[in-house]
Amino acid sequence: MSDPRRDGRWAGKRVLVTGGLGFIGSSVARALAEASADVTVADAMLPEFGGNLFNLEGVRDRVRVNFCDVRDEHLMALMVDGMDVVFHLAAQVSHVKSMSDPYPDIDINIKGTAAVLEAVRKVNPRALVVRTGTRGQYGAATRLPVSEDAPTHPKGLHEISHLTAEKIFQMYHEVHGVPVVMLRLTNIYGPRAQMRSSHFGVANWLMRLALDGTPITLFGDGLIQRDFVYIDDCIDAMLRCAETPACNGQVINVGDDHPSTFRDLAAAIRAEVPQAEVVFTEFTPERRAQEPGHFYSDISRIGSLVGWRPTTPLRDGVREAIAYYRQHRERYW
Ligand SMILES: NC(=O)c1ccc[n+]([C@@H]2O[C@H](COP(=O)([O-])OP(=O)(O)OC[C@H]3O[C@@H](n4cnc5c(N)ncnc54)[C@H](O)[C@@H]3O)[C@@H](O)[C@H]2O)c1
Repeated sequence: MSDPRRDGRWAGKRVLVTGGLGFIGSSVARALAEASADVTVADAMLPEFGGNLFNLEGVRDRVRVNFCDVRDEHLMALMVDGMDVVFHLAAQVSHVKSMSDPYPDIDINIKGTAAVLEAVRKVNPRALVVRTGTRGQYGAATRLPVSEDAPTHPKGLHEISHLTAEKIFQMYHEVHGVPVVMLRLTNIYGPRAQMRSSHFGVANWLMRLALDGTPITLFGDGLIQRDFVYIDDCIDAMLRCAETPACNGQVINVGDDHPSTFRDLAAAIRAEVPQAEVVFTEFTPERRAQEPGHFYSDISRIGSLVGWRPTTPLRDGVREAIAYYRQHRERYW
């Protein structure tokens, strides 16, 4: 990451990234390696999830890779020992999957989080632990933009597991004094994401449809609002929050208070893939029941704490992402 604010801050810092071969984890690992941190990633490379060794291409010689599972507390104790910062991103990440099989979320997102924090409490309670929760923890917005104080009424098992994991973080902070930052991310898109299934990030999936020559399918009239955030902006937010002591113990939205519609997203994709067709389809009853409607984040807290707001326009982010997947399609399809 070329942000001059980062210069020197991470040099020599020992950092563990769980889920560090996935979309967001590898992007954190890359940014930290470029900022001269001593980076280790821990990833179980479970099938179906977004782990991909190619995600570390270009920094592979500067990042230690450890294939291990966050549910193994004994291994985690070895992994967190001596770390200055732990980014805990290993998770089951599909809402759809969680609705047909709830156990991986309970096992990985709840038990795995407890295992990481127990390891930190026992061997390295001064390490800062950063987590990436989801806007889905709120459920449907009761008021827009959605602030961190809004009620939480999740619409899926995945989102419930994330909310529970956040409560576990809160407890380890308040009771055991572990420094933590609890982020709630909106829809993140960009290079290095899982592209094999529609069950993961919607923005990336619609790009894949366009690149495959398959119509981009939008539910309803396509006018539902979302705050899509480009991966580089997300990583900048995560690192700034980790760098700022005032973020310790805080729940913090990472999103955008200037939303786009799904039609805007489709238009950004069509600007890069002009032959892409857009079709509209009715919500299925199941989809309708889980659709939270308009959502965009109040980002005044992160703005006042670390001076962050996203800076990548949707069209620019989509252009970057499509260029990346055009070049590296065989690594992700
Ligand atoms: N991508 C988004 O838009 C988004 C939005 C909100 C929150 N998040 C959260 O951010 C985190 C990272 O998401 P992502 O999009 O990078 O997903 P991803 O699937 O690309 O990465 C997750 C990584 O975790 C690894 N993993 C899964 N279970 C593991 C285990 N038991 N032990 C060790 N490693 C394991 C996977 O192999 C994968 O590499 C997740 O907690 C996700 O819920 C993502």
